[in-house]
Amino acid sequence: MIARGVMLGADQPVILHMLDIPPAAEALNGVKMELVDAAFPLLKGVVATTDAVEACTGVNVAVMVGGFPRKEGMERKDVMSKNVSIYKSQASALEKHAAPNCKVLVVANPANTNALILKEYAPSIPEKNISCLTRLDHNRALGQISERLNVQVSDVKNVIIWGNHSSSQYPDVNHATVATPAGDKPVRELVADDAWLNGEFISTVQQRGAAIIKARKLSSALSAASSACDHIRDWVLGTPEGTWVSMGVYSDGSYNVPAGLIYSFPVTCKNGEWSIVQGLSIDEFSRKKLDATAEELSEEKALAYSCLT
Ligand code: LMR
Repeated sequence: MIARGVMLGADQPVILHMLDIPPAAEALNGVKMELVDAAFPLLKGVVATTDAVEACTGVNVAVMVGGFPRKEGMERKDVMSKNVSIYKSQASALEKHAAPNCKVLVVANPANTNALILKEYAPSIPEKNISCLTRLDHNRALGQISERLNVQVSDVKNVIIWGNHSSSQYPDVNHATVATPAGDKPVRELVADDAWLNGEFISTVQQRGAAIIKARKLSSALSAASSACDHIRDWVLGTPEGTWVSMGVYSDGSYNVPAGLIYSFPVTCKNGEWSIVQGLSIDEFSRKKLDATAEELSEEKALAYSCLT
């Protein structure tokens, strides 16, 4: 997708740096061979390496897809300490060797907290440049509304994912609209079923990652890759006028979310910078959900920091 211009635009040449662990070096080289064989006009080079410094040198955009998955019998703390050590070495390599103003997107779970760990070990990377993926959840919410109303997904906009990329996230449609011949209409008015919107819709989006794993016996791949491209494209090239997207970003305390968490907010992007959409009304139902997912993130943060020492 990146080599085809999906992430950075159809006129932007790219050099791909790919990092994997030594046991995967041969497979990684196979991927490099395929990239060469595909003869992508935009692809100007491929670096396939098991050395984090070589991988990070000069990069403008870093998509962090490596993490340690939770395995049977592992406690959350065990997974967290594995991820702390992975993110420690990659963060230091990025901090020392990436291009100035490198943008970082963390995809691997626990994505929000991995982004926080990365920030901790790369203190000179501005916090505005470190983000995590919740665009996948945002796109899932758009998809559910489009299926329910039988409308084009491109006509649905301004859903919001608040909080953690986990089952505590809050998919919020209170400000979402659908384009109709008579103008934009609120999703709540068109769906006209608050019980579904406040119940099944939310749990379907929250549990979608688990449902994909159950069906595929593997976690999401195509939709995750596509939404990672959406995330970077909108960040770099800007969000369309009147549209916001969801990104996990460093909280400045907006919407009374504790500052210092990586929390998913509605954002607009312009000139390569995101800004949290301000002034949206939050009703009592939403407030509780925003607080619950913030609470989970604070707990994850405390656990991660206890593994840092
Ligand atoms: C997803 O949302 O599809 C993934 O984050 C699920 C997972 O745990 O890999």
